[in-house]
Amino acid sequence: MSRTVYVNGEYVPEAEAKVSVFDRAFLMADGVYEVTSVLGGRLIDFDGHAARLERSLGELGMGMPMSRDELLTIHRELVVRNDLTDGMIYLQVTRGAPGDRDFAFPPEGTPQTVVLFTQSKPGLADSPLAKQGIRVISIPDVRWGRRDIKTVQLLYPSMGKMMAKKAGADDAWMVEDGAVTEGTSNNAYIVKDGTIVTRNLGTEILHGITRAAVLRFAREAQMKVEERAFTIDEAKAADEAFITSASMFVMPVVEIDGDAVGSGAPGPVATRLREIYLEESRKVAV
Ligand code: PDD
Repeated sequence: MSRTVYVNGEYVPEAEAKVSVFDRAFLMADGVYEVTSVLGGRLIDFDGHAARLERSLGELGMGMPMSRDELLTIHRELVVRNDLTDGMIYLQVTRGAPGDRDFAFPPEGTPQTVVLFTQSKPGLADSPLAKQGIRVISIPDVRWGRRDIKTVQLLYPSMGKMMAKKAGADDAWMVEDGAVTEGTSNNAYIVKDGTIVTRNLGTEILHGITRAAVLRFAREAQMKVEERAFTIDEAKAADEAFITSASMFVMPVVEIDGDAVGSGAPGPVATRLREIYLEESRKVAV
């Protein structure tokens, strides 16, 4: 079935969804994006994603193309038009298409490009991977210095996923100055003696919306949380490891660079946090 895609104010069949070759995102990766998951036809953590979009745009000197309410309306309209039950909505906002290639930003008033499309993933929350856990490799983090801005510069994360695949693993954790920053498209955690450890916020990592919710639920459940850098050796010696993202929720990590983490099976903390996150997020989904 052909999807209905939103492009610059219009809902069009996917084959007709097009943007200019002069678009700043195509030529300069000058755009930001968000991925919001949909469970049971409702949006998970929408407010967080909208707030981060506004922040990303602001850090790059761009404003919101429309109000948060209008964005929500488009998200919901796409869910309905595409009969989406479980999956994701991808949103991208770029600095627009000024009609030529130039390093300088286009003139004030150049219309931004706004694209949203759905990705159907039936049974997204019941992924068998969550019972099995994933395997990661470590790779150097050679991305730019503003990883807190969710830009479409995803070449290195994409290469990282391919390096993982080649090594027979599922994903990669990136390491800088001896410490883990994050996964290629997710935040990274370890659990040692009941304490959850994850990289502190800064420009080195994306401020995950799932991360914020999971840490809040963990603290509410009286679990101990430390936001600080950790090494791959520390992760290998941990009792558990896991990742979080809008599309994976909480996903256990059972192997790092070929070494089993803990028992080599998903641990109780990651398993419990996944349950709590899914349960609580569904309750307030819009
Ligand atoms: N990725 N870190 C990076 C580098 C990411 O790309 C993502 C999200 C996260 C987790 O953020 P959140 O919990 O807000 O999804 C952390 C999305 C899912 C993607 O690129 O598909």
